[in-house]
Amino acid sequence: MDQLYREAIIDHYRHPRHYGCLEAPDYKAHDLNPFCGDELTIELKVDDEGIIRGVAFDGKGCAISLASASMLMEEILHESLDEVKTWTREDILDMLGIEIGPVRMKCAMLSLKVLKKGIYGLDQLEEEELD
Ligand code: FES
Repeated sequence: MDQLYREAIIDHYRHPRHYGCLEAPDYKAHDLNPFCGDELTIELKVDDEGIIRGVAFDGKGCAISLASASMLMEEILHESLDEVKTWTREDILDMLGIEIGPVRMKCAMLSLKVLKKGIYGLDQLEEEELD
């Protein structure tokens, strides 16, 4: 089973979904992993009902951080902003499906950190929440 998740991570890393940028995004945020300097930008288009209709990300990073961003984009497309606000560290770990050690935790959580920063418009997340 672990092998399937690993293959999915490698596939998302090699062929990231929704990589690029959107025209006139409603939400946009950028941040980095302070440990390595890798960075990520996430953009969203949201309709009047608060449903996410467009997603994009770009940046550079390791397999875990880029696969996490790519998978997260697929997960949140067509979801409501309210639903996405409830995403936690555990949801990301479930999505990745493999054991993430302490050294890689910031890589895995970078996409969620940037996403929440974009949605809230501020850096409201406590760092500890994602460690
Ligand atoms: Fe930089 Fe993972 S090593 S994000």
